[in-house]
Amino acid sequence: MHELKGTKIRRGLYILAVTASALLSLEVFGQGGLSGQVLDQQGTPLEGVLILIKNEQTGRIVSVSSDEQGAYSFPNQHLTLGNHTISVRATGFSLAPNTPRNVSINGQPQERKLTLTYLTDKDKLASQLTSLEWLQSWPGSQQEKEALTHNLVNCMFCHSLERIARSTYDADQLLSVMQRMLTYETDHSSAQRIQIVAPPQPLENLSWFGTDAKKIAAYLATVNLSNNRDQWPYEFKLLPRPAGAETQAIITVFPIPRANSVVHDLDVDQDGRVWFGNTGWDYLGMLDPRSGQFSEWEAPNFLPEAPAGTDRILGVQDIQVDAQGHVWAAVGGTKLARFLPKEEKWQAFDLPVIWRNPFLSPVREQDTGIWATGLAGPSNGDQRHETAYKLDIETGKLSQGINLFDHMPTPDDPYHSDPLNYCYMMDQDINGDFLCTAPVPSGIIRASLTTQKSVFYPTPTPHAYPRRGYRDDANRFWFSEFYADQIAVLDLNTNEFKEYPLTPKFISPYYARPDKQGYIWSSSTGSDRLLRLDPNTGEVLKFLMPVYYDARKVVVDESAGHTTIWLPSKNTAQLIRVELMNDPVSTH
Ligand code: HEC
Repeated sequence: MHELKGTKIRRGLYILAVTASALLSLEVFGQGGLSGQVLDQQGTPLEGVLILIKNEQTGRIVSVSSDEQGAYSFPNQHLTLGNHTISVRATGFSLAPNTPRNVSINGQPQERKLTLTYLTDKDKLASQLTSLEWLQSWPGSQQEKEALTHNLVNCMFCHSLERIARSTYDADQLLSVMQRMLTYETDHSSAQRIQIVAPPQPLENLSWFGTDAKKIAAYLATVNLSNNRDQWPYEFKLLPRPAGAETQAIITVFPIPRANSVVHDLDVDQDGRVWFGNTGWDYLGMLDPRSGQFSEWEAPNFLPEAPAGTDRILGVQDIQVDAQGHVWAAVGGTKLARFLPKEEKWQAFDLPVIWRNPFLSPVREQDTGIWATGLAGPSNGDQRHETAYKLDIETGKLSQGINLFDHMPTPDDPYHSDPLNYCYMMDQDINGDFLCTAPVPSGIIRASLTTQKSVFYPTPTPHAYPRRGYRDDANRFWFSEFYADQIAVLDLNTNEFKEYPLTPKFISPYYARPDKQGYIWSSSTGSDRLLRLDPNTGEVLKFLMPVYYDARKVVVDESAGHTTIWLPSKNTAQLIRVELMNDPVSTH
């Protein structure tokens, strides 16, 4: 309930009272440990098999991987008391038929030897494929696959490609399915939660975010189960299992209690608490991983009523926690909002724009302000005016707007109509000046508050589609090149780029985040793997997650004593924690 909604106080601040609700009771942590070995039917140890145990009461999943000797072990502090179900993730294998699936964690040390059998049933194997494995198995030209994946929104953004591979629709029917999907708001919908943003467009000339939808539909009808096929007429090409250092991650999956939550973004505060924006509902959520307790607070939404036949879009997008522990959020409407956890209060600040970019810059300890962008000027498309503003977090005062539009493709450029023709993910350099990724013109824009000027730096690889990233302490901005399958860095001291290739093709890095040790973490759209680049050697580790995920953000918990990464799993209402216990964070 917004008791004080609309009460205006100084400098355009609105204060809203909120209702908080605790959603899950505390968990009891176990002792004693669980360990064992994973073997195939011939007794050969299997490396890189994920062993999952799921707490039947809380739904929480913890996974570890078998090492070179096939050995696995769950650390004590990751076990909770109670009944658990055991399962494995290793494409091409399943647990031997008579394996007991129940594990009661009761404080006593336990050992479980697990025998895996090779899967011969293609239908069962199909259920284990990641989207990337589908994509690399599908026949078709690189161009056909690029038409499918190289879009502002692609078919993997709300569900896995398995849904498409298993469908029996022909090209015309697939076109109607895509027409329906185009009515859903991507960031605020998943395969379970649908928010309608637009009425259906006519089927003729249906465009999937700038690509001819007919072409995509025709291609997909050649790889699914249409034509009365009961089996896929192509070999499945699998990604390798984790090996060596890739088997060292301990992964915990926390299900969010609110049903059909959609989580696009999260951030971690200095006490290790995880704040997440629920883009499916007007709620800000928080997980305290130590107790396993979730809390949530109703969030304001300043959007006007929606046109008939569409939904007034609910949800909280980008989340940035500042040094005071205040939680900045992109709520609905043309305002910037922050939540004060101690007071349990929202404050909202007006932005003089007609449309607000749903992202915010990070706010680090030394930062005095937070950046936001939006469209200023008339709503007429071609006269729009991409503008950056900085809000002083102390005084609540907004800077003058800086024009960014000069760098965007104009109507005579073929890329002008791409929906991502705007300044996308933003950050600030070490002096507090603005920078953002510009996916369509493919570069980074920097803007100075002092000179009010902005400069565009094109990526060395053209059409690399810089997506999301983060600046490190040495004043280098790391970002993902979604189309080029590369991680890149712009040294903000010298304005020089460096690019690091990833494999295989279509691993589609979404967000790049440096940690304090100099590694770069990146989520990948479609591979269910979290990537870690070592820029000194170019080596990339691929940590397989125990569950399907799609994450638009990667956050490092800098308060933890060992490497700890958080991912919001947008489409499955889960928060995923990845830990390298043997990797204490050095603080040199
Ligand atoms: C904005 C989220 C979103 C995106 C992006 C998306 N889908 Fe879907 N998809 C859904 C939802 C929600 C459902 C289930 C409800 C429905 O069928 O409308 C679904 C279901 C499907 C189904 C099963 C439909 C049926 O009738 O059984 C197919 C096939 C499919 N999607 C194909 C695609 C293709 C092809 C693309 C990319 C061109 C795509 N999807 C992109 C949200 C999405």
